[in-house]
Amino acid sequence: MNHHHHKEREKFSSQFGQIMAMVGSAVGLGNIWRFSYILGINGGGAFLLIYILCVVLVGIPVLISELSVGRSSALSSFNAYKKLAPGSAWILPGALGVLGATVILGYYPVVAGWALGYVFESLFNWNAVTTNTELAFTVFSSGWKAWTFAAIALLATVLVLLRGVTAGIEKSNKILMPLLGLILIVLVVRSLTLPGAVKGVEFLFVPDFSRLGINGILDALGHSFYSLSLGMGIMITYASYMKKESNLAEATVVIVTMDTLIALLAGLAIFPAVFALGLNPGQGAGLAFVTLPGAFAQMPGGRFFSALFFLLLFIAALTSIMSLMQVPIAFLEDEWKMSKRRALLIVCVLLFIIGTPAVLSFGPLADRLIFGFTYFDLLDKFANNILLPVTAFLGALFIIFRFGLAASTEEFLTDAKNQRSILGRLYPFAEKYIVPIAIALILLHATGLFS
Ligand code: PHE
Repeated sequence: MNHHHHKEREKFSSQFGQIMAMVGSAVGLGNIWRFSYILGINGGGAFLLIYILCVVLVGIPVLISELSVGRSSALSSFNAYKKLAPGSAWILPGALGVLGATVILGYYPVVAGWALGYVFESLFNWNAVTTNTELAFTVFSSGWKAWTFAAIALLATVLVLLRGVTAGIEKSNKILMPLLGLILIVLVVRSLTLPGAVKGVEFLFVPDFSRLGINGILDALGHSFYSLSLGMGIMITYASYMKKESNLAEATVVIVTMDTLIALLAGLAIFPAVFALGLNPGQGAGLAFVTLPGAFAQMPGGRFFSALFFLLLFIAALTSIMSLMQVPIAFLEDEWKMSKRRALLIVCVLLFIIGTPAVLSFGPLADRLIFGFTYFDLLDKFANNILLPVTAFLGALFIIFRFGLAASTEEFLTDAKNQRSILGRLYPFAEKYIVPIAIALILLHATGLFS
């Protein structure tokens, strides 16, 4: 018998640390550019209202269900389902979670690499970047630098994960998340004090319901999953390292509040600057790397603020990559009793293979379309529009029909303080009646059957 079998599972050492790790996972590229961008095209404040509703009615119950599955089984996604429903098809959401996390890992580090690269471009190559921001980004993302910085981002993640859950994931998040908050506040103050900033604030908060259609509502629902890192086994895996006595209600409330707050602050850092300097807020994916450097170029100390912004983006991405990578790592450790070193090595080789074409999608492979998408976009669409909602849907059915709402709620309530909480009382209802219907709608929307 393998000696790993008897080893006790490593546990987070403090409530603060484990919450920071989960906030670190939730707060990522999604909060900093995706949220602001889809909010912009869907009627600003109107979208914000709907988004918050989705987070409360659907995001919170799904987060609670994932935390309860992870902590009660003390195993990573796939093995959690396997333990709670032995020998049945219910391992499917677990397997899809591992697959989803791995697919996202194929392209997410590419964007993290751009962010890290732009910290250096801002500091040492500022004139070249700002002469023509669009051309500069094309040159950067299609060249050797893009691959190198993505590899550095992955290597940094590997170094953290090698140290384990407490000394690696928990400790780095305890430092990086407060640092991220600090940088964000500096940038918000800079942006809001530019003359003309108020137009950007209006863009964010003033509702325009005429621009919010059914597509916007489904976007809001989908983004609430993406932003809270749900439906890919991440929260299940992280919760498997939580001690039995830790307070899940508090964790839920803090994760959701911080994730939403940081998305709003990021919007307040980006849009007032974009509007004050008369740039186009509807750039979409190019907003962060094409529009913003142009905005920074026009303000005093712009090079410095630009470097800070991209550092913020890099930190946000890095702590999310950690959580993504821990899913296949923990799977290899739990399922095949692999050592952490070997698991990391295997995942890195795999990522080299699936990630390299993602980098090249902006260079030599830009014209190689698969189903009309570049390889990079294909990974993104496949994971977010298909794998993620299917996994979340099956996960919800698992809670309702197999694990049981009562067992899940009981796990959630182990801390005595939770027993009187409103969350504990509303959770079973929302999980049973709202969640499956909402996710089914996202799925139909994603497949084009309902839009
Ligand atoms: N929740 C992270 C974000 O908002 C994104 C993420 C997605 C993280 C998928 C891990 C996995 O950007």
